[in-house]
Amino acid sequence: MSAENSQPGADALRPEAIEQLVTDALAAIAAADSTAALKDARLAHAGDRSPLALANRTIGSLAPADRKQAGQLLGAARGRVQQALAARAEQVEAEELTRTLAQEAVDVTLPVDLHPTGAIHPITGLIDLISDVFVGMGWEVAEGPELEAEWLNFDALNIGPDHPARGESDTLFVEPLSNHLVMRTHTSPVQARAMLTREPPIYIVCPGKVYRADEFDATHLPVFHQVEGLAIDKGISLAHLRGTLDHFAQAMFGAGLRTRMRPHYFPFTEPSAEVDLECFVCRGESVGNPDQPCRTCKSEGWIEWGGCGVVNPRVLRACGIDPDVYSGFAFGMGIDRTLMFRNNAADLRDLVEGDARFSRMLKGVAR
Ligand code: DAH
Repeated sequence: MSAENSQPGADALRPEAIEQLVTDALAAIAAADSTAALKDARLAHAGDRSPLALANRTIGSLAPADRKQAGQLLGAARGRVQQALAARAEQVEAEELTRTLAQEAVDVTLPVDLHPTGAIHPITGLIDLISDVFVGMGWEVAEGPELEAEWLNFDALNIGPDHPARGESDTLFVEPLSNHLVMRTHTSPVQARAMLTREPPIYIVCPGKVYRADEFDATHLPVFHQVEGLAIDKGISLAHLRGTLDHFAQAMFGAGLRTRMRPHYFPFTEPSAEVDLECFVCRGESVGNPDQPCRTCKSEGWIEWGGCGVVNPRVLRACGIDPDVYSGFAFGMGIDRTLMFRNNAADLRDLVEGDARFSRMLKGVAR
């Protein structure tokens, strides 16, 4: 450089000074490890106010003979910085992509949904459905305790201490026996409770659990469910019972399904009958037709569903209702059996084993 290089800014244009600025810039660029850091480095070392840009502005102050060389030097220096920036930008972008992919990776081998949602138990669903059918006719849903007074479970229903039916019901007596408490063997004591506490007319259904010292197998459970129905009013006859049972059966099993009554004996009703459903699978087609056997009704055409009858005047009297003024009908059906028929549940044990898959399978079906 010539002696005229003593002008302001000339110092910054010395080759060593320019090289130093480049060295600083390259170090800052290499150290930038993110897009944001690289943006800062670009501003500091290649921006309008960077040392190299400022040095460029001082070229005019050099002696004309020196301007060309300084211009070339600065141009090359700024070119190197730009190149380093471009190369580093590419690297940083690739590094950031790798990091994002690692952070957002989904491990497809992780176990799925460890907390599956449950479902309403099919028996609960069916109880709701049955209740809706009767509430729709203006009846009420009544409840009673599962631990029941022996008198209400038996005596009030005309099953006296010496009555054979008393010994046949596999009753679970609760100690101390002097308290005369039993696990209710049927929902019929709720009838007695209703008659003792309400004024006729009475129209109630009582769904609930019942208990018997029974086997635990595919067709028996020691705890199962019944629904009891009771209607007490003036002028109630067997015809009202038939109509009610037909409506109930069709609500459960489909329109057009017939019921029939077979004479039977229950101490609390007189006359009494067992209610059969027309087989909803073969509709009787399998009867006397060995080529088309029906597993559901065992080719009998009918399936036993429950018991019913006209309330025995002795029961009305025991529960404080005048049989000369009022009469009534009653019925009792197994809810578990109803579910089995209705939804093709083959094994009653599925109802109590608490496997949510069973409930989910029947979800909606029993509602
Ligand atoms: N309680 C009877 C049982 O458990 C079922 C029953 C039969 C209920 C006839 C009734 C009825 O109300 O009228 O087997």
